[in-house]
Amino acid sequence: MKASDLKKKYIEFFKSKNHKEIRNASLIPENDSTVLFTTAGMHPLVPYLLGQKHPSGKRLVNAQKCLRTGDIEEVGDNIHLTLFEMLGNWSLGDYWKEDAIKFSFEFLTSKKYLGFDIDRLAVTVFKGDKDSSKDSESAKVWLELGIPASKIAYLGKKDNWWGPAGETGPCGPDTEMFYWNSSVKVPSKFDVNDSRWVEIWNDVFMQYNKDKRVILVDGMHCLYDKNFKLKKDLLEAINNLNTHTMLVVNGFREKGRKLVKKNSLGQDTNWEAFSLEEEGIKKDNPEYFRILLKRFNLSPEEAIYFDHDKKNVETAKRLGILSKQYTNTISIKKFIKDNLWVFIQLKQKNVDTGFGYERVFSILEGVESIYESSLFKPIIKKIKELCKTFDEKSIRVIADHLRAAVFILNERIVPSNVEQGYVLRRLIRMAIRRGKLVGIRDGFCSKVAKEVIKINKKDYPSLEKHKEFILKELDLEEERFDKMITSGLKVFDKLSKNGKISGKDTFLLFQSYGFPLEMTVELGNEKKITVDEKGYEKEFKKHQKLSRTVAKGKFASGLADKSLETVKLHTVAHLLLAALNKVLKVDIMQKGSNINVERLRFDFNFDRKLTDEEVSEVEELVNSKISQGIDVKCSEMSVSEAKKIGAHGEFESKYGEKVYVYSIGGFSKEICSGPHVKNTSELGKFKIIKQKSVGSGVRRIKAVLV
Ligand code: ALA
Repeated sequence: MKASDLKKKYIEFFKSKNHKEIRNASLIPENDSTVLFTTAGMHPLVPYLLGQKHPSGKRLVNAQKCLRTGDIEEVGDNIHLTLFEMLGNWSLGDYWKEDAIKFSFEFLTSKKYLGFDIDRLAVTVFKGDKDSSKDSESAKVWLELGIPASKIAYLGKKDNWWGPAGETGPCGPDTEMFYWNSSVKVPSKFDVNDSRWVEIWNDVFMQYNKDKRVILVDGMHCLYDKNFKLKKDLLEAINNLNTHTMLVVNGFREKGRKLVKKNSLGQDTNWEAFSLEEEGIKKDNPEYFRILLKRFNLSPEEAIYFDHDKKNVETAKRLGILSKQYTNTISIKKFIKDNLWVFIQLKQKNVDTGFGYERVFSILEGVESIYESSLFKPIIKKIKELCKTFDEKSIRVIADHLRAAVFILNERIVPSNVEQGYVLRRLIRMAIRRGKLVGIRDGFCSKVAKEVIKINKKDYPSLEKHKEFILKELDLEEERFDKMITSGLKVFDKLSKNGKISGKDTFLLFQSYGFPLEMTVELGNEKKITVDEKGYEKEFKKHQKLSRTVAKGKFASGLADKSLETVKLHTVAHLLLAALNKVLKVDIMQKGSNINVERLRFDFNFDRKLTDEEVSEVEELVNSKISQGIDVKCSEMSVSEAKKIGAHGEFESKYGEKVYVYSIGGFSKEICSGPHVKNTSELGKFKIIKQKSVGSGVRRIKAVLV
């Protein structure tokens, strides 16, 4: 088979096995805010792997662009890339191990497709552990197909388990296929550590959902604790492990809330106090645990229960809930840490496969490295034309990083210090720094990018469409970095005089001179200077937390910045919520918002992009309410009254018993602490300027008043 036919043939093969082709999704995950990029073909399929019905059926196939930074150190060897394409086929509760392996084997060995020699193939299978047993079923299929035992290795979770893609989600044991890509004779025994055995395909058997157990802390004693150890332990577990914790209080919820507040947990959404006793359910009620679990929609295996009362703990244990009596001597934190994760059997057994496109492409072209294949040749050639010294690793890193940067820019992301923009910035700057190492003097990123676009535009026509934007952003970033790099290097020398550079200083180099961590580490390696990477990460996190707290504080205090502009945007947020509810005809809830003098950022539950028509309808509706000049009225009432009149807002956790409800005619009613304008005529013209997805079923709108 010709390498250039690979993608087409893969899709064709699986279509012949009744698979439907699905689209190559965006590099920016649309349904998952826990990761920055689409890292595998399964990523956009998570809801379907969890059981939702896919409109295209139970057998799917596609080519998916993916981006991973986890292996960035390896980039520049023969097989690792930051941006790569993954060919994949899926069974959503349809075929299982035997068919999946047989499909893979047929595509690999059939003369009609890849026609690989069986001798050159080897596989790994999961050896089993406490979460899942040894995968003898897969091994048996491989043996039957003619893979000898000497070419089958059994490995643990580190190697033969895949997922979840984010922190939680579908995952399972896998079986991986390797190809001997060397002119040296194939050894008779498979050695997984020999890099000439190249991993080319991974069949994952996704039968588990990895999730965090919910922590139920019964009674308030832990927070009253005098000697503090227990309390400290618990608070640390909640904060450091980011657990979802419920304080079940026997007395009154208010009291529990106050305690939560006193322990600085008031703003933390991971932590909530509630009372079953208020609902008339006492601890001696035989239904107590059933009700407790039902309250949070949990099965016994999904909870960890703590109480100081031994009897309750024993009852919980009997019901299959992981439980522990808290006393001053046990470490709650350790218990939580050891038991936080649970692997729950999924309702359906799925197959998720990932085939390394660039790797197999290179094999088909008869080269031992991805970088020698025609997917990279023109890029490498261009870099070599520009550089003065030939350091192969640097040239490959430049090619890889700029290729990835082009694809990120193609998603209309620009370099910045946060999220995807931060990764983009690091990639570009690392490429520039490597460029300097090999003696490239002038701006070069956009020159290399042109080659990347040329090679890939057939499969990705949007690259051509966004070409101008991509090249301009690269030029700008290169100019910005060029301005800083000389002074940054001087500062580096000064800060590292004693042979070390602290986390704080490494962060300073990033913050003030735009030096990515990797770059400081590389400089350190060259100059024999130790860089405190851990300290840097700590500083980085601290900084992120600080900016988050500032942002949060702003909103929590009912808008610290009460300038007229922000007040106006606050009122318009109410109109927007009401309009979204009317236009989209489903229950829309606000999922967060952020207002500054310039714009309103508004998150809400909705699982797809709004059409242009919907956007206009929302704008028109809001603007019609503005031009009607409606009075904004405020009244005080209890939560249940507010509920009764249909006011929007979070009733349970965020507000006290009495609340303010702001009404705008009959159009909008919301629980809110204000302030607002007096009449909608004060608002001006409303305009939506942007919309995007920010995680599972949540969309974000940015809007302004002009
Ligand atoms: N999701 C699996 C992987 O990325 C197939 O290897």
